[in-house]
Amino acid sequence: MREDMARPADREARLLARRAGGTPAYVYSREALRAAVGRVRAASPPGAGLYYSLKANPHPGVVQALAALVDGFDVCSLAELETALNTGVQPRDVLFTGPAKSGEEAEAALAAGVAVTVESPNQARLFAGAAAGLGVPGRAVIRLNTLYPGRVVGADPSPNQFGVAPEDLAEVVDVLRASTLSVTGLQLFWGSQHADADVITAARASMTEQALACVDRFGLTVDFVSVGGGIAMPWCDADPEVDWAGLAGADAEDRLPLVCEYGRSLVGPAGSLLTTVLDTKTVGDRRYVLVDAGINHVFIASRLIAGGDRGEPRVRVVGARPGAAVAPAWVTGPLCSQLDVLAEDVRLPEVEIGDLLLFEGVGAYGPSFSPSGFLSRDQVREIVY
Ligand SMILES: Cc1ncc(COP(=O)(O)O)c(C=O)c1O
Repeated sequence: MREDMARPADREARLLARRAGGTPAYVYSREALRAAVGRVRAASPPGAGLYYSLKANPHPGVVQALAALVDGFDVCSLAELETALNTGVQPRDVLFTGPAKSGEEAEAALAAGVAVTVESPNQARLFAGAAAGLGVPGRAVIRLNTLYPGRVVGADPSPNQFGVAPEDLAEVVDVLRASTLSVTGLQLFWGSQHADADVITAARASMTEQALACVDRFGLTVDFVSVGGGIAMPWCDADPEVDWAGLAGADAEDRLPLVCEYGRSLVGPAGSLLTTVLDTKTVGDRRYVLVDAGINHVFIASRLIAGGDRGEPRVRVVGARPGAAVAPAWVTGPLCSQLDVLAEDVRLPEVEIGDLLLFEGVGAYGPSFSPSGFLSRDQVREIVY
């Protein structure tokens, strides 16, 4: 079991399952959210603002709990925007991001008074037109295209579709300057799921240099520069631990007001999934434990994401019987799909129908990232405790 993960004790886990009205149920710990924010803040450049990206977990209770702990929100849809605004956050502390917004989204975000990211000349024109039509000034954040570094220092970086291409930058600035929008910030996001402190630190430094070059070239005065987040959520047993010590005590950056935007590292460790054993059987030499959660609830456990080099998701039996024999098991869900395997060949004590299992550290990219419509089954329950 990882030290940093929320860990409802057996009795609490049973009560949480009852409180949720049954399983499968995600349970998110407020205390663990607070601990995660503190740890991630300490691993960020001193003085940097911390934004929470709702894409990792848009549950209103989670977002409300985080509202008191972070400095702003990054939202990617109008539904996420409403969830964020419903916490009472000031619109100036919300950033509406995404590579391709529709006219309706542009209008809604500007009408709400939040900052919007602009990722191309066409999108700059879209926002300029929307602001003029609404008669509001509007605040634009230019997202710069950046290469995403590999997992280790020296690995090949990957190109991507996000942000304004360097050759389009002057046009974007011209369009925005000719509009009512003010350029209030820059966004340079560079990837996710990084554990290596050298990679993260180098990426932040490179983003800062790129931002400074842009500010100098166009004479911009910005309220903030988002230099990404990138810190991992290790939740499979072979995922590397984040090098928290290596990230602590970074040098302060006084040339630009920095913001970091994080999703998984804030909510991942705070969430567990409770699921009930519906059947047990042995087929050939394999012991199967069939549970009521499937990859329609926890897609990140599917063989498309977990397993192989990453190892298996962390799963334990709630209230294992003293002296129960421990043996390898395949934990599978209720779906008619061979893909519906949540943990493969993991060591589990003997269980019976009705027993509770708990997957740890699955608070990010859970229900909202899962194919919940598959087989038209019930939605998973979610509670914050
Ligand atoms: C622009 C942007 N910000 C923030 C995030 C959140 O990233 P993570 O969950 O890895 O912290 C993402 C993830 O894709 C992103 O694209």
